[in-house]
Amino acid sequence: MPIVREKLGEFKARESAAYRQSRPLSAARANQENGFFGGVPQHWMLDWPMPFPLVVQQASGTNLTDLDGHILTDLCLGDTGAMFGHNPEPVAKAVQAQASRGLTSMLPSVDVEEVGSLLQAKFGMPYWQITLTASDANRFALRAARAITKRAKILVFDGCYHGAVDETAVNLTAGRTVAKPSLWGQAYDLAAVTTCVPFNDVEALEAALKSDEIACVIMEPALTNCGMVAPASGFLDEVRRLTRVHGSLLLIDETHTLSTGPGGWTGTYGLEPDIWVAGKAIAGGIPTGVWGFTEDMKRGIERVRTEIPAGHSGVGTTLSGSALQMAALRACLQDVMTETNYAAMIAGAIALEDGLNALIAKLDLPWSVIRLGARLETVFAPSLPTNAEQMRASFDYELEAAIHLGLLNRGFLVTPFHNMLLAGPSLSREAPAAYVAALNSILNEIL
Ligand SMILES: Cc1ncc(COP(=O)(O)O)c(C=O)c1O
Repeated sequence: MPIVREKLGEFKARESAAYRQSRPLSAARANQENGFFGGVPQHWMLDWPMPFPLVVQQASGTNLTDLDGHILTDLCLGDTGAMFGHNPEPVAKAVQAQASRGLTSMLPSVDVEEVGSLLQAKFGMPYWQITLTASDANRFALRAARAITKRAKILVFDGCYHGAVDETAVNLTAGRTVAKPSLWGQAYDLAAVTTCVPFNDVEALEAALKSDEIACVIMEPALTNCGMVAPASGFLDEVRRLTRVHGSLLLIDETHTLSTGPGGWTGTYGLEPDIWVAGKAIAGGIPTGVWGFTEDMKRGIERVRTEIPAGHSGVGTTLSGSALQMAALRACLQDVMTETNYAAMIAGAIALEDGLNALIAKLDLPWSVIRLGARLETVFAPSLPTNAEQMRASFDYELEAAIHLGLLNRGFLVTPFHNMLLAGPSLSREAPAAYVAALNSILNEIL
């Protein structure tokens, strides 16, 4: 059944009016000069599809209460930062306890040894470093990879996002690597340091690696930031084989695919990266990124340190590895990222997936659903895209924004970027069916 564009425009206007009317307190905040650019602490908070930003009063588990008292079921979960819920109790307790013992000292705290063991046991890497964000972890790991291999370039896949990391912020446009046109203040040509190839394209990957210029391939095991694109059967094995053949390191960024299972995609499917990165939810919402690496990488870093003078390395920030982070990380790894919590999250996501597939079939929509553990997404295409170019062709920003706003007015918060949903551990058993019913009622108005 086709979407009727005229109906869609009318729907959006009705939903915008309903949002405005039901949120006088948030609206009043939005119109105030509050000292922030655009009234928000991060400029992109203005990019959500609502007429003005939703002000959050409080959040707990998988619920979020806005300033006007609406309780929302949160399927965005801070775009993964709150994947295990908004206030996982073990983390909240550990943070409270650590606050009375000191937050940061630029020295290792007593939790370090236990956190190291937990990271090794969960994700397999023998050595680890802590950062404040996943962006930082990627940036520092890439610096280490270039230092060790003595190669300048990195390789990324089209459609990737690895955070605020200059050299990864590129697209593949008409076969060329180009800086994303949306970047602010880009000062140098990213194509000089980055090669971008299509996801799932072994030939293009091999051709790029053959140059023997690539220090590191950085990738998510499945694209999750350009819609969700799964790796074709055998693709990840080929990436590993070819990087080894051509002397490039392999960085697997699991910041989002940590949703796959307790050991991320790497643990679930037995990947063998040289560097493993995660952030966002890894310390239950306390700002933390981690990068783990192999014995060989460790020896490489040791060698590099003997070759250059001591001093600023370009790796590390003052608050990274703080006592606060280590306490939160320990609690999250030990008591939150449990088999039980993952089982609940994945069950919630499967219920959502089943409900969405049934709705798509009932309404005869040319859409499909992809799920990776606790994360899933509706794609506006009859079969799942295999690379970013195909995925971009399926995008329908007008439809997406209207649906997101309609869902919000019906009590569901979803990620503002594409149609991604995350099922947190405390998502109620009723929530998936209620979500599908809300989507059904929206579609009834625009089909
Ligand atoms: C795969 C991936 N890596 C890294 C990042 C960066 O995370 P942060 O913004 O917390 O630094 C993101 C953010 O969306 C991401 O999706």
